[in-house]
Amino acid sequence: MSKSLQAIRGMNDILPEQTPLWRYFEGTVARLLDNYGYKQIRMPIVEFTELFKRSIGEVTDIVEKEMYTFEDRNGDSLTLRPEGTAACVRAVLEHGITGGGQVQKLWYIGPMFRHERPQKGRYRQFHQIGLEVFNLDGPDIDAELIIMTWRLWGELGIRDAVKLELNSLGTSESRGRYREALVEYLSAHHDKLDEDSQRRLKTNPLRVLDTKNADTQAVLVDAPKMADYLDDESRAHFEGLKARLDAVGIPYVLNPKLVRGLDYYSKTVFEWVTDKLGAQGTVCAGGRYDGLVEQMGGKPTPGVGFAMGIERLVLMLETLEQIPQEISRQVDVYLCAFGEEAELAGLALAERVRNELPNLRLQVNAGAGSFKSQFKKADKSGALYALILGDDEMAQQVVGFKPLRGQGEQQSIAWDALAAHLATCVVQG
Ligand code: HAM
Repeated sequence: MSKSLQAIRGMNDILPEQTPLWRYFEGTVARLLDNYGYKQIRMPIVEFTELFKRSIGEVTDIVEKEMYTFEDRNGDSLTLRPEGTAACVRAVLEHGITGGGQVQKLWYIGPMFRHERPQKGRYRQFHQIGLEVFNLDGPDIDAELIIMTWRLWGELGIRDAVKLELNSLGTSESRGRYREALVEYLSAHHDKLDEDSQRRLKTNPLRVLDTKNADTQAVLVDAPKMADYLDDESRAHFEGLKARLDAVGIPYVLNPKLVRGLDYYSKTVFEWVTDKLGAQGTVCAGGRYDGLVEQMGGKPTPGVGFAMGIERLVLMLETLEQIPQEISRQVDVYLCAFGEEAELAGLALAERVRNELPNLRLQVNAGAGSFKSQFKKADKSGALYALILGDDEMAQQVVGFKPLRGQGEQQSIAWDALAAHLATCVVQG
């Protein structure tokens, strides 16, 4: 027997019973971003490999071991995007839309690809909603990004379950000075470090701060602190951000070990974390990357942004049972017709109703069937009302109007009056 075809490990189908929650989440975020004045940008899913190497950094986990890279038929090395910032910077540069200091507040949504070990909340194809702002260098915009996400958690009903962690990495100069001090200190304790940290000490020493190894963590207790190496400008910027979060009343935890897994950050970095999802607890993360645009060949252009993982946030809504009831009902009215003549009349009637009530979710029975089977389908659809067209109704040019969820008896409504009647009983989206 031939082996049945399966999806690739870590790449999931999102089935029809899950999509209402995804659409609710995506719709809520999109509306919020519209309201704050952000515009959507759509980038390709595949880019030249070089783009990610130059932006995310050669010695990061993503570039070293997680990218889906392949040669296309021209022999070009291409990569399925592991994140959105690099492509967004490429796009704004290519189209010159950040030139002359033009402010851009952009957002994007879509699949990202990383060859990580799949587990709950961590997948090889996952989805992000991300946002990038160009040409604003003050802490006010960093604060806006965080305030916006705070509002989102409130709207979704998950605010009590997330915590904001905050750090400043300083400018590349101050980070360079800190890196030197850290390397000197860690080198003196080389033998006490775990193997991975010994390797990172050579390639990407700040990532040692991230370690989960208890022995290395013990060594880090007395290590030099990043905050002591911050330059004045970064310090003032960070104070400015904290003052704004205080003013709005957003709680945060300072985490001097927060360094992020991508190399492009400077100054502010932040993560929204939860303890409700097990090991994969970061639901939204980002920061400032003032050097990135220049590094990619553009003029010096400040940038700041974040991305949230849709799978993780959907999981949180499910775990915390914050699923609005109305999203599961997808049908308002279900039309049952019995016999060929009634079917034809039903189709025409449904179109007339749709002309008048374009937002009504009206499903017409397909596949004919007995009285019993059509009613079963009407009920299963979740509709509030069934419309019935049989011989009697046809003779009188009426439709039977039957509430399916309690309240009221079946009544007859004239075809001409149907749309007006439905408008009074169904709240339309
Ligand atoms: P990131 O921290 O790599 O940052 O990813 C952002 C979010 O995407 C994570 O916090 C998590 O919620 C989700 N995520 C990442 N990897 C996976 C995975 N394998 N499975 C499920 N969810 C995942 C970035 O990607 C930056 N581009 C964010 C940014 C934008 N910084 C500035 N602008």
